[in-house]
Amino acid sequence: MQHDQELSGGIHPLLAGRFSPGRFDPSAVVDDRTVDLLLEAARWAPSAGNSQPWGFLTSRPGEPDHGRVVRHLTPSSARWAADAGLLVAALTRSHLGDPHLPYSEFAHYDLGQAVAHLTVQAQAMGLSAHQFRAFDLHGLTSELRPNPGWEIVCLIAVGRAAGGPPERRERRSIADLRSAPWPPP
Ligand SMILES: Cc1cc2nc3c(=O)[nH]c(=O)nc-3n(C[C@H](O)[C@H](O)[C@H](O)COP(=O)(O)O)c2cc1C
Repeated sequence: MQHDQELSGGIHPLLAGRFSPGRFDPSAVVDDRTVDLLLEAARWAPSAGNSQPWGFLTSRPGEPDHGRVVRHLTPSSARWAADAGLLVAALTRSHLGDPHLPYSEFAHYDLGQAVAHLTVQAQAMGLSAHQFRAFDLHGLTSELRPNPGWEIVCLIAVGRAAGGPPERRERRSIADLRSAPWPPP
């Protein structure tokens, strides 16, 4: 493992400066224009065959949908995600209604790229994003009732970070990225 100081030198500051905050400033409002720009960034992500198999539900504190999402957070994510100025539910369409009819085998891959775009756009606007799976998927799906074929994959809390990154952040080495998939020489 390598630590972040060794890692981040040379890459773009937007990437080097990104981290998933453990706390958000509850007083930082995310305005309409910012929400639109985050989705605009997601919209321009590449996808297999330009299928664009993504969909989002955005909600901010005080909006009715915010309560509908927050009530399905686990205690671990409710501690910090409910304070973020924006919660985004990220959905993908991997089937065409009928669960036996695949839509795109790359649907989850493509959604991940769209969320990466959104995350970097947030960073460029002085905000931070924390993606998370710590919610009751079944409960949230029953609550939001997406159209057939659509599935909720993750939630993203976006807002102003309260505090900086953790002191220690670890990443696998570049050598390990290259060697791990293959048998030893
Ligand atoms: C698909 C996905 C699910 C995640 N789920 C959680 C989660 O449930 N709870 C949490 O605190 N963080 C969650 N994270 C955040 C990761 O833990 C975090 O990105 C990772 O530890 C690296 O830290 P960094 O983003 O600050 O670099 C998730 C991230 C992704 C991409």
